[in-house]
Amino acid sequence: MPGTKPKRKKAARPRDLRTLRGKTILVTGGAGFIGSNFIRYVLGRYEDIRVINLDKLTYAGNLDNLADIAGDPRYEFVRGDIRDAAVVAGILGRVQGVAHFAAETHVDRSILSGGEFVLTDVHGTYTLLEAVRNAPGIEFFLHVSTDEVYGSRDAGFFKETAALNPSSPYSASKVGADRLAHAFHVTYGTPALIVRPSNNYGPYQYPEKFIPLFTTNAMEDQALPLYGKGRNVRDWLHVEDNCRAIETVILRGETGQAYNVGANDERFNIDVAKRILKLLGKPVDLIKFVPDRLGHDRRYAVDCRKLKALGWKREVDFEAGLEETVRWYVENRNWWLKIKTKSAEYKAFIEKNYGVRS
Ligand code: NAD
Ligand code: TYD
Repeated sequence: MPGTKPKRKKAARPRDLRTLRGKTILVTGGAGFIGSNFIRYVLGRYEDIRVINLDKLTYAGNLDNLADIAGDPRYEFVRGDIRDAAVVAGILGRVQGVAHFAAETHVDRSILSGGEFVLTDVHGTYTLLEAVRNAPGIEFFLHVSTDEVYGSRDAGFFKETAALNPSSPYSASKVGADRLAHAFHVTYGTPALIVRPSNNYGPYQYPEKFIPLFTTNAMEDQALPLYGKGRNVRDWLHVEDNCRAIETVILRGETGQAYNVGANDERFNIDVAKRILKLLGKPVDLIKFVPDRLGHDRRYAVDCRKLKALGWKREVDFEAGLEETVRWYVENRNWWLKIKTKSAEYKAFIEKNYGVRS
C-alpha cells in the first residue's frame, strides 16, 4: 500500500550449535572475579549443569567469592594448578566442556614482574590445550582472552581480524594463550572458542583493580591514585554482560573463531573516579594524580558486531551498573576489608606499586 512502510523481517537468531543442559563443565580460575560470577550465572540458569572449579587459589583466588554456592551438589571445587597435567587430565575425563579463566591478570603486577604471567597464562593454557587434545568427548574449549591483545588506539575500533599488538607483559602473555588456542584448533581440530572482553566491573573484583580500589579507598577516605592525567579511556563491561557473552559464544560460536566483547561505552578514568566519589558523597580532592603506569595503553576499543550477530547485546548500562557495584562494595565491606587488612601479599603489592609513586 502506498505510504506504508515495508515490513522488515526480523533477523532470526542463529541456532544453538551446542548446549549446556545436562553437561559437566570445567571452569578454571573459578575462584577469581569473573570465574566466580560465571559459575553463579550458569548454576542459576541451568538446573541440570554441573561445574568443577579448578583453581590454584593464588592471591586473587578467594573461596569467599563462592560461599553461597559451596554447598550446591552440582558444584565441586578442586584446588590445583592448570599446569599440573595429571590433575587436569583427571578432571577432563569427567567433563564435556571447558571455560578457561585462570590467569595472572593485573597489568601493574606484570610490569613489576612478568614471569608468572608467562608461566600461567601461556604455559598454563598450553597444558590445558594439550590435555584437551588427548581427552575425547570435549565439545568446547572456551578461552577467555582480552581486548588488550590488540593494544591501544586513539580512534576507531578493532575488529577480530586486526593485528595483535600487545603493550604489557600481561597482554603479551594473553596473546600467547589466545594464539595457542587458535593454533590447536587449526592443527589438531581442538574445538576452541575465544572471547576478547573489555574491562569488566561488578561484585567480587579483587580490590587492586581500578573500580574496586577506588571505591574502597574512597569509602575509607583514602587517596584515589589516578595514573598520569586520568585521560586514559576504558570501555566498561558489567561482568554479567560478559557472562552472557561467554554463554552465547559457547552455545552459538564457531570453533576456531574469536569474538570481541565490549559495552561500547567509553569513559575517561578521571570521569569514572569522579562518579564513584559522587555516588559515595566524598570530595573530589581525594583524587591524587600519581606518576603514570609504564607503557600505559591510552584507549581500548573493540567492534562487537560479530558477537551481536550471535544474538548478544549489552544489557547493563554503565551508570546503573556502577551505582549497583558501588552499593555492593558498601554492603559487603567485610569481603574486601579482609583482603585489604589481613592479606600481607596485598599490602606488599600496594607498597611496591604505589610506594614509589607517592
Ligand atoms: P582474577 O585475577 O580475579 O582471577 C584469576 C583466578 O585464576 C584466581 O582465582 C586465581 O587463583 C586463578 N589462577 C591463577 N593462576 C592459576 C593457576 N596456575 N592454576 C589455577 N588457577 C589459577 O581474574 P579475572 O579478572 O576474573 O579474569 C579472568 C580471566 O578474564 C583472565 O583470563 C583475564 O585475563 C580475563 N579478562 C579479565 C578482564 C577484567 O577486566 N577483569 C577483562 C578481559 C579479560
Ligand atoms: P585496571 O583496572 O588495572 O585495568 P587495565 O589496566 O587492565 O585496563 O586499570 C584500569 C584503568 O585505570 C587503567 O587505565 C589504569 C588506571 N588506573 C589508575 O589510574 N590507578 C590505579 O591505581 C589503577 C589500578 C588503575
